[in-house]
Amino acid sequence: MSIVTDLTRSWLTRSWKPFTFRNEYDALLPYQDCENLGLYIHIPFCRSICNFCPYCKVRYEKSLCDRYIDSLLREIQTVGSQNSGRKQVTSLYFGGGTPALAADRLAEIIDTCREYFDITEGIGLELHPDNVNVPTLQKLQAAGVTKISIGIQSFQEKFQSTLGRKTVDMKAMSAALAAVPFETVSMDFIFALPDQTFEDLKSDIDTAFSVGANHIAIYPFIDFTFTKSTVSALPKKEKRALLDAITRYCLGKGYRRSSIWTFSSEAHAGYSSMTRDNFLGFGCSATTLLRDQFKINTFSVEEYCRRIGERKRPTSLTIRFTRRQRMVYYLFWTAYSTRVDSRDFEKFFGVPLKRMYGFELWLAKLLGFCTEKNGVYEMTLKGAFYYHYYENFYTLSYIDKMWGIMRKEAFPESIEL
Ligand SMILES: C[S@@+](CC[C@H](N)C(=O)[O-])C[C@H]1O[C@@H](n2cnc3c(N)ncnc32)[C@H](O)[C@@H]1O
Ligand code: SF4
Repeated sequence: MSIVTDLTRSWLTRSWKPFTFRNEYDALLPYQDCENLGLYIHIPFCRSICNFCPYCKVRYEKSLCDRYIDSLLREIQTVGSQNSGRKQVTSLYFGGGTPALAADRLAEIIDTCREYFDITEGIGLELHPDNVNVPTLQKLQAAGVTKISIGIQSFQEKFQSTLGRKTVDMKAMSAALAAVPFETVSMDFIFALPDQTFEDLKSDIDTAFSVGANHIAIYPFIDFTFTKSTVSALPKKEKRALLDAITRYCLGKGYRRSSIWTFSSEAHAGYSSMTRDNFLGFGCSATTLLRDQFKINTFSVEEYCRRIGERKRPTSLTIRFTRRQRMVYYLFWTAYSTRVDSRDFEKFFGVPLKRMYGFELWLAKLLGFCTEKNGVYEMTLKGAFYYHYYENFYTLSYIDKMWGIMRKEAFPESIEL
């Protein structure tokens, strides 16, 4: 499997050089001149742990969560105060874990961010269905949250039980969402579970929009090697048929495809922490992407708090990109939104996209993966499937390896991908 990613990486970066992450960090982060900068905050606590989930999280304990948030506030202050004045950022996203568990301290975290950053496009936060009740939603709203994303996975009991999750109380959820409105209400689903059919997914999609969602994310199930999950994903052919059927169904309903796996029923509804040119990440496992480097914080909650207590950065690994590596990284994540605008690429890198990747774009058009209009490359249905398919390889050979190591070692010496 990694032969596919190795060859693609070498071809696109025009070098045999692997992506090398080293245990080194910078006291100062050069984000001051970055445009289209986003903020990400990781809250690694959950009431109970799901077997299939790869994310960095531990079981919720109030005292540990409070200690963690004290450290988080310090990390934001340290990074934010490197800039004189308030730096403009597009968005702030809280991911996890289950960030809604920190609802009582959210206003404090957001106010601290606002001391240093001017957030122009809203604040997003992830919830578990158990958190969708009027008092919690009101706390989120009062703190400034404008977009919420709820981890439904499936409305159907048989798939919830496959995943080891409880059935969602749709009535209570719908009433709470109607009582406390948000600009975006997104719901996460997982597809390609054993025996899952298009009818199952169609019913989930219809239910989501009828109980208050205006945005959905339908992720393919990924069987990470380091999780304890016993569920295996559907084979490629069935997965493709499902992804195509979901896409056709949503587009037929008039929903807008905002990324490979997301659809919205209202033009203003969007939820994505990934498609930013640059971002600053705070908290355990959070990543930071700047002009020529990418950093990952330690996955250990204890080590994170200890480092911050010693007034050190909690960075575990850093990669300093070559120019071509950065271009590949840029294109990979921009393509996630199903379109790449060559003008944005040229603005970011100072060279025309066609000069750097003219042959690849010609080939992609020839193979029917994308179309081009006025310098904007739009992915076709076929292109979206192959992107998804390649992304699956990438996830299994890069993310699986890296997260597998980082869950065990707080500060690994180096990792090569
Ligand atoms: C941090 S969780 C969402 C919030 C909350 N913790 C919850 O589970 O309800 C992020 C989302 O990742 C997706 N996810 C988790 N593990 C996955 C896997 N193995 N394959 C595909 N998607 C996965 C789920 O859809 C989940 O809702
Ligand atoms: S899926 Fe959500 S609730 Fe389950 S362990 Fe992962 S982050 Fe926690």
